[in-house]
Amino acid sequence: MSLSGRHLLGMYNVPKNDIQLILDTAITFKEVLDRPIKRVPTLQGKTIVNLFYENSTRTRISFELAEKRLSADALNFSVSTSSVSKGESFKDTIKNIEAMKVDMIVVRHAAAGVPYYLTQISDSNVINAGDGIHEHPTQALLDMYSIREKLGKLEGIKVCIVGDIAHSRVALSNIYGLKTMGAEVSVCGPSTMIPKFIEELGVKAIHNIDEAIQENDVLNILRIQLERKAREYFPSIREYQRYFGITEARLNKNGKDILILHPGPINRGVEISSEVADGPYQIILNQVTNGVAVRMAVLYLLGTQN
Ligand code: CP
Repeated sequence: MSLSGRHLLGMYNVPKNDIQLILDTAITFKEVLDRPIKRVPTLQGKTIVNLFYENSTRTRISFELAEKRLSADALNFSVSTSSVSKGESFKDTIKNIEAMKVDMIVVRHAAAGVPYYLTQISDSNVINAGDGIHEHPTQALLDMYSIREKLGKLEGIKVCIVGDIAHSRVALSNIYGLKTMGAEVSVCGPSTMIPKFIEELGVKAIHNIDEAIQENDVLNILRIQLERKAREYFPSIREYQRYFGITEARLNKNGKDILILHPGPINRGVEISSEVADGPYQIILNQVTNGVAVRMAVLYLLGTQN
């Protein structure tokens, strides 16, 4: 079994069989992560560069660990310590890195479309680790893996993505992936943060958070991205927290046994209270653990294609 493409640029148009294969392969790699020696020789001899033009904690460390667990040679590129600071262009940077014979590139960039551009100027397998407000496919895959692990399936599961949908690459990748896998997807947030075309994606828009809690099996709570000027879309953080913040009182009021996901990093006391972020309904750190297994699966499946 192999994936249908050479790259993972997004979840848009990724076939159900590919998603199934990645999620099933990740189960095997999760078992490797529980062993005393957490390493397999699968990608020995392969060189993978992690090209992060934007800050990251989870995704960068998770990819690096996944590469090391698969015995690949992992290289980390950091913009601040590179010759980009001397004015070297993106294309020249990539050409020079490729001249050193790398096999795969994991890229995060603030501009949407950079992973696709990379496929046009390089021969490496390209994996999108988040491009602007476009897509973040491995986050969606690890979210789907975590939901399936907890609830046993994705088909028919009702998932609501809460927060700034319009500016979220996590939301878009989750919508595409979950819809392909047969989940029922809705979004909830201030109307200024919900794209007008959202229902064309087969996604229901809900503007009342209590209704969203009542109707769904899973809430995937997005971070309010203060660095992307999220504050311009609602009057105050206090007001956002009051109308859309997920608190213990709100969950108790709705008497709902619901699964809470958050891709991180968390703004405690804004989109999620500390009681919920550390409480019994959430699987936030399970998502982080599963991220390594899912990224091992993606790297393995792309790195061992003929
Ligand atoms: N979830 C996520 O992408 O986190 P980082 O920005 O820390 O990688």
